[in-house]
Amino acid sequence: MKDLHSILVHADDTIRTALERLNRAGWTVLLLVEADGRLVRTVTDGDLRRMLLENHDLESTLRALPVQAPHTVPRNAPADLILQSMNRCQIDQVPEIDETGRPIDLHLRRELDQPVLLSPPHLADEERTFVEQAFATNWIAPVGPNIDAFENEIAATVGMRSAAALSSGTAAIHLGLKLLGVEPGDRVFCSALTFVATVNPIRYLNAEPVFIDSEPDTWNMSPAALADALEAADRAGNLPKVVVPVGLYGQSPDMEPILELCDRYGIPVLEDAAESLGATYRGRAAGSFGRLGIYSFNGNKIITTSGGGMLVGDDEALIERARFLATQARTPAGHYEHHEVGFNYRMSNILAGIGRGQLQVLTDRVEQRRNVFERYRSGLEDLPTIRWMPEPAGHRSTRWLTAATIDLGGTDQDLPALVASLADAGIEARRIWKPMHRQPIFAKATYWPHHSGESVSDRLFETGICLPSGSGMTLEQQDRVIRRLRERLAPPSRIWRSSTLALG
Ligand SMILES: Cc1ncc(COP(=O)(O)O)c(C=O)c1O
Repeated sequence: MKDLHSILVHADDTIRTALERLNRAGWTVLLLVEADGRLVRTVTDGDLRRMLLENHDLESTLRALPVQAPHTVPRNAPADLILQSMNRCQIDQVPEIDETGRPIDLHLRRELDQPVLLSPPHLADEERTFVEQAFATNWIAPVGPNIDAFENEIAATVGMRSAAALSSGTAAIHLGLKLLGVEPGDRVFCSALTFVATVNPIRYLNAEPVFIDSEPDTWNMSPAALADALEAADRAGNLPKVVVPVGLYGQSPDMEPILELCDRYGIPVLEDAAESLGATYRGRAAGSFGRLGIYSFNGNKIITTSGGGMLVGDDEALIERARFLATQARTPAGHYEHHEVGFNYRMSNILAGIGRGQLQVLTDRVEQRRNVFERYRSGLEDLPTIRWMPEPAGHRSTRWLTAATIDLGGTDQDLPALVASLADAGIEARRIWKPMHRQPIFAKATYWPHHSGESVSDRLFETGICLPSGSGMTLEQQDRVIRRLRERLAPPSRIWRSSTLALG
């Protein structure tokens, strides 16, 4: 909701005052109100221009304006009906009034028309300097000072000794699994509730993924399911080569019991923190708990290089080998010498420059995303059907995406219909990841639920949704999402009805 104070004027105000207000507010409309705050009419810059052309001067008062009943919408009018009323009346702004006729908000067409995206890139000025330096010094290749610096800066940020900048998070997982010795026929245990990019690299290596369910507290890998899976594998003599826990939507898994279990069986952990850079668990950075960790800088992530990834670890020799494999495994010689198959997985110096600029604002981005979450939470706290992704003690989530489960039992809609109705209002929401054990491509894979008869990831998929969470979202955009959700989820008695729309 906007602070309308700066655009309120009274009949005794002069045209000069009104013009100054418009100028300061940077808007094209003022709200003329009675002494008791009730709305009399809107005043546009065109109205003021016409007054001057009709021989009023700058000191004339607004009392000279013709009486004109304002087009308004009542409290909590839904977005699509506000747009309809704008179209019908051919206006680009419409005030929302309360039951007493006092203005409480002002809706602008440009805000309603603009889509609210799930997680768009948010760049500032810091990136430009590094990228311009790369151009100026002609370091455009996948080598250069930005790459070295970005690696060092990420390693320092997350508290690991070493980092390798790569072309994507997927590439980082692929190399990480290879470095940890995954070979054809090996088994890799990984989170069932994740994006497919966690699992595809297992298949690149002709290894077999085994899916571990989530637990309700973090939505991430269930230590109970992992314990069951490891115990059974130990008995059968087919322990996995690597365990890959994923930090979903900006939150670390409960790493302590996971590491304890993996240590007990001597299995290395590759932490997929693609979505959780900036999060902490027991005071340490998400992604820094395993033998190796990975981050993604894809365009939708909390910081981005447009596309890119990072492999981190404390074993410097292992990370150096990742750099070697990522540049076609070229053995140092006076010519092109190759003893094994390599990859073209290195990040470019230009993109590393964007990454360095983005890293400088990571802390701000975390705060901004957490604020978005908090605004949703407080704006919808009276709706008990929404249950937010928990943030247990010891965890600090970035709230990369605000995620929640929604009980639609008392309504006539299902989750796809809810997502579609948000899309109709220009709001991009997404369902929670469809768990990997339900994907046709992995139909034959083994799956370990949280407890026998209780699959947490299935329940989350059936009821879970991610809301627009970009760090650059305006308050108005956040309010649009809240308003639309309220329209769809509030009990019928509280929903504003279109027949009450007041137009002028
Ligand atoms: C959980 C998870 N793992 C891996 C990836 C892969 O990262 P990238 O897109 O940089 O390849 C992503 C995101 O895209 C992800 O969300």
